[in-house]
Amino acid sequence: MSTQDKKLNILFVASEVVPFAKTGGLADVAGVLPKALSDLGHNVIVVMPRYYQIDPSSLEHVDGSLGVPMGVMGEFWAGVYKSKLPHSNTDIYFIDYEHYFGRKGLYEEDGRAYSDNDNRFIFFSKASLQLCKMLNFTPDVVHVNDWHTGAIPLLMRTRFKHDFANAVTVLTIHNLQHQGVFFKGGVDVLEIGWEHFNSHEFESDGALNLLKGAIAHAQAITTVSKRYAQEIQTPEFGFGLQEHIKAHSEKLFGILNGVDYEEWSPAIDTFIPQNFDIADMDGKLTCKRELQKHFGLEQRDDIPLLGFVGRFAEQKGIALLSGIIDGLLHQDLQIVMLGTGEKWAEEYFSEVASRHGDKFGLHVGYSNALAHQIEAGSDMFLMPSLFEPCGLNQIYSLRYGTLPIVRATGGLDDTIENFDNNNPNANGFKFYDASQDALYHTVMWAVGIYHNNQKSFKRIQENAMKMRFSWSDAAKAYEEVYYYAIEKFLH
Ligand code: ADP
Ligand code: GLC
Repeated sequence: MSTQDKKLNILFVASEVVPFAKTGGLADVAGVLPKALSDLGHNVIVVMPRYYQIDPSSLEHVDGSLGVPMGVMGEFWAGVYKSKLPHSNTDIYFIDYEHYFGRKGLYEEDGRAYSDNDNRFIFFSKASLQLCKMLNFTPDVVHVNDWHTGAIPLLMRTRFKHDFANAVTVLTIHNLQHQGVFFKGGVDVLEIGWEHFNSHEFESDGALNLLKGAIAHAQAITTVSKRYAQEIQTPEFGFGLQEHIKAHSEKLFGILNGVDYEEWSPAIDTFIPQNFDIADMDGKLTCKRELQKHFGLEQRDDIPLLGFVGRFAEQKGIALLSGIIDGLLHQDLQIVMLGTGEKWAEEYFSEVASRHGDKFGLHVGYSNALAHQIEAGSDMFLMPSLFEPCGLNQIYSLRYGTLPIVRATGGLDDTIENFDNNNPNANGFKFYDASQDALYHTVMWAVGIYHNNQKSFKRIQENAMKMRFSWSDAAKAYEEVYYYAIEKFLH
């Protein structure tokens, strides 16, 4: 049997997984990709922390406990729970340890990151490896995601080498901005050996950098769009790691995220007031009216309604948007926003809402139902990100016929085809400069098409709604990367 035919044992390790805990797109990916890999015939198990927002009574308790060696801090004992990813036979395990995960947030509280995030996620990483022993699960591939699990590739060659001698690691970078940079003392908790604390492995400016170490030690690296795979090798998007990534670029691949169309399809969406699809768009108008009602906006069918859903973070271009929102709201259009994050933005947009109540709706907080309702009821979707590794909301928007207005970066550039009169495949509107001017003019241009060129608007909408970003295609691309990593490791 050639390597390529081998069905693999895959341990998929992530710090958040839908529907159990989510702060962003990583959770969407981790909740679906493992299922798509199982569908290809692989034996996949997923592991995440049991944050205390996850009710244990909904999970199965696994007998026994896991001893987790924490170097100079000694050995800690963790509990284990188990469940399935929804609508699947894929097992997910939860590492239970109150001292680290019995908190309100996943990574932070009241805008402040937990000061022991290094120990929390080193603990989680080691516990995930110990779990394999407990379950007698011998992985061929350990798939790790972002900095939280960045210690794993080298741990498998050092502290845990006896148990993982035949396994390869694949690292997916969902966001290079967050690297897991901590006081170097963490090396003694990691137990990887100080010889690995150098500028080619785990060290950045005298600090411990978990993502950097993972980039050095994983057999393969993926990131969530082809464009972002290029961008992170440049100073503009590399967050200081561009040279390090370039040095490992032969093992770097871009694989675009898919979408869970069971969850994000207007024809079957249970969160929206009326279902619709390309052949029958009446429901979209009902969704728009209900959305206007929800936010107390003037109820007019003919006014363009623009939606935004996302973290209020610099990455998402909220500073660009805040700079032009007053100007936009003086035009004949409406905007609704759902998000939470940086305090200044929450306050600023709240203040805008108090001034433009009939044209601007804001919900500060997290609401999955409202996210669906905004996707369904808006005419256009704003995503002016400064950088965007993949971005899921613009892809959801396409399916709902809500035309994305995006900055041409990362996955936004890879998924959105700009409207111009010569582009028969256009599915949205793009701008290039990260400037308020560019955003403003692109919004006004899109709004102009909405008002004055309904035929084109409709055509772009149809193109958008026909597109599919399938997880099964993405899973096949990951499978290729796994086989690549195995071949490379063996030879
Ligand atoms: P990122 O992971 O950078 O935040 P993505 O576009 O990949 O960006 O994914 C964001 C995900 O989080 C989407 O599923 C989006 O609907 C969801 N989301 C973000 N903010 C909110 C919110 N305030 N309420 C509900 N869902 C949200
Ligand atoms: C990150 C990125 C986002 C991507 C998501 C899932 O949070 O910011 O662009 O879609 O991960 O891969």
